[in-house]
Amino acid sequence: MSDVRKLAKQLAALGYGSRKEMAIAIRDGRVTGDGDALRIDGEPLDPPAGMILMLNKPAGFTCSHSDQGRLVYDLMPARFQKRDPKVSSVGRLDADTTGLLLFTDDGALLHRLISPKSSIEKTYDAHLARPLEGHEAALFASGTLVLRGEDKPCLPAQLDVTGERTARLTLNEGRYHQVRRMFAAAGNHVETLHRSRFGPLTLGDLPDGAWRLLEPAEVAALRA
Ligand code: URA
Repeated sequence: MSDVRKLAKQLAALGYGSRKEMAIAIRDGRVTGDGDALRIDGEPLDPPAGMILMLNKPAGFTCSHSDQGRLVYDLMPARFQKRDPKVSSVGRLDADTTGLLLFTDDGALLHRLISPKSSIEKTYDAHLARPLEGHEAALFASGTLVLRGEDKPCLPAQLDVTGERTARLTLNEGRYHQVRRMFAAAGNHVETLHRSRFGPLTLGDLPDGAWRLLEPAEVAALRA
């Protein structure tokens, strides 16, 4: 393959356009630099395959590639959705849930992180409709709580009460609507839910609705 065709293929895989469009862009001088320092229209290229990013998900956005309404993918450059391999969220947060959501195009990593066998810790901050009664931490830690419609008990989970109607819950699994269903099983109702931690990662000062690539040290910690 010629150098131009190779480069056009590389740029097309990053979602910048079709191979044909990229061949034209190269011919027109829009692609400059070489090796790791390539630029398109003066901007550094997006990272190659193996990209991992975190989003501070706002409320009202759905974790789907195709649903109606506002999608988490609308919060990042449209070309990310044209990448090959495809960029997907690492698991999902409910539309109403905010906070730390990872995305990657590394299918093996994705499957490892969302596998039922993965015991990666996720921490959620919940605001509740009613005051906590005092029995919840023991119930969640017991390893005997069976959610409605299921027969396998939840793994022991750690509840830290942070206020009369606020609590921080750390899970080692990720079942459908798990936090909301656990509090429902305890006779309460989750009004707002925010994920503040995913394994070794926290949001830091990433604003609501913003995303950023993981730092190399964060990637290493996540992959460890
Ligand atoms: N638990 C929930 O109930 N919702 C989420 O989005 C994540 C965990």
